[in-house]
Amino acid sequence: TPFSVALAGGSTPALLYSLLASVPYRTAIDWKLIHLFFGDDRCVPIDSDFSNFRLASDSLISKIPIPPENVHRIRTELQDNEEAALEYEKELRNFFTTPYPRFDLILLGMGSDGHCASLFPGKSSLSETTRWVTVAEPGLKPFVPRVTITYPVINHAHQIIFMVAGSDKAETLHEVIEGAYDPKALPSQDVSPLDGSCTWLIDVKAAAKLSLQG
Ligand code: 6PG
Repeated sequence: TPFSVALAGGSTPALLYSLLASVPYRTAIDWKLIHLFFGDDRCVPIDSDFSNFRLASDSLISKIPIPPENVHRIRTELQDNEEAALEYEKELRNFFTTPYPRFDLILLGMGSDGHCASLFPGKSSLSETTRWVTVAEPGLKPFVPRVTITYPVINHAHQIIFMVAGSDKAETLHEVIEGAYDPKALPSQDVSPLDGSCTWLIDVKAAAKLSLQG
């Protein structure tokens, strides 16, 4: 059976993608069985430096023997962002035949404002309960519209892995994990799989303000 993964945007996963594109992973993984999706992308042409697809393509997809039909990207080059979101939702509905997409793995990064995917503090995309994919206004650079999966998609995953690195994330990470529950201000707090697991991979700098520090 195929294994479905939603990749994260931003810069943190670049190292993971390069690792997966090198031996032994490159050769040990049966890429025919992997389907790559995107949790979010910026509405820019795919050769833009801001494109999440481009980063994943340069560091991973172009270097592995994955069938092109297993790569499900968001059509960020379309003029109409709403159309890109609707198309991507259709792409998910064609792949998953379940009432909600059940990703085997969703990779997420966290912004220094507590956002994940393109679910930014205070924005209307946080209240989306029926749409699987929506257009999101950015809260941080680059200030371009995004297309993002929604909480209903995220929280139906089998497994979620958050990757958080760098000292600029330390205070927010402490708030997200150990602070008061306020998901409109800290969207990452509402990542909570209904029937799955959520694992945080945190580097020493981002973990600096956690009380769990030994
Ligand atoms: C995006 C993202 C976003 C990202 C975080 C962390 O397209 O911007 O998917 O949610 O994962 O902002 O980004 P960094 O890894 O660059 O800090």
